Amino acid sequence: MSFNAFKALACPLDGDPLTQAEGAWRCAAGHSFDIAKQGYVNLLPVQNKRSNDPGDSKAMVAARQRFLNAGYYQPIADAINHAALNGAPENLPLSCLDAGCGEGYYLRQLAQAASDNTQLELIGLDISKWAAMAAAKQSFHKEQSLYKEQSRQQEQGRQKDPSATWVVGSNANLPVQSASLDRLLCMFGFPVMSEFARVLKPGGVLLQVEAGANHLRELREIIYPTLKPERSGEQLVPEGFTAQVAETVSYSLTLNGKESIADLLAMTPHLYRASAEGRERAAALETLIVSVDVRVIKWIKNA
Ligand SMILES: C[S@@+](CC[C@H](N)C(=O)[O-])C[C@H]1O[C@@H](n2cnc3c(N)ncnc32)[C@H](O)[C@@H]1O
Ligand SMILES: [Zn+2]
Repeated sequence: MSFNAFKALACPLDGDPLTQAEGAWRCAAGHSFDIAKQGYVNLLPVQNKRSNDPGDSKAMVAARQRFLNAGYYQPIADAINHAALNGAPENLPLSCLDAGCGEGYYLRQLAQAASDNTQLELIGLDISKWAAMAAAKQSFHKEQSLYKEQSRQQEQGRQKDPSATWVVGSNANLPVQSASLDRLLCMFGFPVMSEFARVLKPGGVLLQVEAGANHLRELREIIYPTLKPERSGEQLVPEGFTAQVAETVSYSLTLNGKESIADLLAMTPHLYRASAEGRERAAALETLIVSVDVRVIKWIKNA
């Protein structure tokens, strides 16, 4: 099989390795974390929670799921897949964490894009339980529909299992063993570079995706009275990393219909930042042509 769930988890309370048995992950000290019926595990200690329901809400997760599955950000996924898989060693496991994975779109896309000789070991982590739940459910749906596919694929001599380990957890304290990852994605997320440096193997690759100056400009022009100047794109090289190429992905996106426009607004921080009038102006739109402009930054973990 080319795809496996990532297994090198660590106890969020003491950092000891976790092992999976009988529907739970356990450490040697006896801490135990049940796998929920939807297939994700909660590794966020209550004392590390800043709120009862941290991260994106159920409604935001659902909006992002509809928007991304419609394919509007496919070029971003393509750029990430290429950056993550290009030059990856064949026939060796390639472990990849999506830190702040949302409902799992980019890991599903990575699994689809990988060649049959790439043995992905996938883990998606998000602080929102709604995100982890939505990701786990889609992963399982895929597997079920794969049953029908399987005989056809076996005939062709290949079989894919796109399942991943889905975790509720925080980037601030990743429940992952040190130096266990080949790739780490942080897409429109909340990077914690010291943790990312800890969990990546030497030579491992961090792929960060951030909004560029023109990202969603037309939507922002509609919802805000004036546009704030964008912060400068240059970033210092974080400790433990070597800077690599930064790439820009930009294109024009046409959204037809109120629902996709509402979904885009709901999956960004702009929904909360906009005034009521701004939101009303966006809600009145039937069509929107909007710029997508993101930077993909590739950092290499020092040897
Ligand atoms: C803008 S969304 C991006 C989601 C996904 N990467 C995507 O591009 O579709 C940011 C995500 O980060 C999650 N998040 C916020 N704080 C976090 C933290 N400290 N650790 C992990 N995830 C976090 C949110 O719940 C949300 O799902
Ligand atoms: Zn423990």
